[in-house]
Amino acid sequence: MKPRVVVTRNPPGDALRRVREAAEVWVWPENRPIDRMVLHTQIAEAAGLYCMLTDQVDTDLLARAPLLRVVSNMAVGFDNIDLAACAERGIAVGHTPDVLTDSTADIAWMLILGASRRMSEGIDVVRSGGWGEWNPSWLLGRDVSNTTLGIIGMGRIGRAVARRAVGFAMPILYASRSDKPDVEEATGAVRVSLRELLVRSDHVLVAVPLSAETRHLIGRDELELMKPTSNLVNIARGPIVDTDALVDALTAGVIRCAGLDVTDPEPLPSDHPLLDLPNCTVVPHTGSSTWETRAAMADVAADNLIAGLDGAPLPYRVPGT
Ligand code: NAP
Ligand code: GLV
Ligand code: GLV
Repeated sequence: MKPRVVVTRNPPGDALRRVREAAEVWVWPENRPIDRMVLHTQIAEAAGLYCMLTDQVDTDLLARAPLLRVVSNMAVGFDNIDLAACAERGIAVGHTPDVLTDSTADIAWMLILGASRRMSEGIDVVRSGGWGEWNPSWLLGRDVSNTTLGIIGMGRIGRAVARRAVGFAMPILYASRSDKPDVEEATGAVRVSLRELLVRSDHVLVAVPLSAETRHLIGRDELELMKPTSNLVNIARGPIVDTDALVDALTAGVIRCAGLDVTDPEPLPSDHPLLDLPNCTVVPHTGSSTWETRAAMADVAADNLIAGLDGAPLPYRVPGT
């Protein structure tokens, strides 16, 4: 008898075809995150869970899943999963690094450029008929080329952003838990303290995972350290930045602008104060959202799931599980 698998959202591409060969698959049929109660019911007989970053895999869920052997997250981030609880139960946890690195680094660049050059304000004014005669002092932003980029978290995505920064002739500072000599050699990046990075950078990129340690890593004190001309870009997870502090900093001109692919909360309600700020560019968590990348993520998640069902090593197991 094939093992039972719960899939919480239909992924693009044909990854599920392979999962269906290996397992009896139940897929949440709707185009929105799965209802918690439905997941609680479906998980009871499941050996595998193929899930999304919107699904909380916590002790409450695991307590209802006595047969569960593998959790395969179709994301690189795993802050939605209680890793310790999975490890305790011998449940392998898979994720999808590497395949989304370039597309996410591209979104980081879209936001670095778009926020500094006031792209969303420009688009809005053109669409609303406000484009007047050429004006030497209109919609002035801040330079990107030859300015200093600070990268918080020199991991896979941080490195990919740094590689691109070489083309913009940017000095690079980074804050990470360990030295990255290869990145330093390839890009001239210099490791500094978080404080020094905030003080010296013109663009600050948040690229660390969300954890107890990084929640509100960027709060009022950190924003105060940044230059009044600077740009904060977050492509990692919303709660790494204290949203209320960011709203105040953008309102008071403590920093000049921000570009956010991730927010806290998510989705951001349309009446949220961040959206009243012309100097805040927000896109809806689309870092990995290209056809190619999402199909590749779906494939890696399928590979992890199938390996876990077989009791084989996961191609991409979350460290520590
Ligand atoms: P990664 O390779 O694990 O890189 C994360 C880096 O953060 C690591 O190099 C690590 O440093 C560093 N780090 C961890 N805790 C830190 C701390 N407290 N202070 C400073 N640095 C710290 O992960 P990745 O693949 O680049 O992805 C990063 C995150 O981006 C994911 O966890 C996910 O949340 C997010 N993400 C978002 C999107 C999107 O759609 N917007 C897409 C993909 C990923 P060391 O190496 O020095 O230990
Ligand atoms: C996206 O946010 C991911 O973690 O893959
Ligand atoms: C701008 O379009 C210029 O020609 O300077």
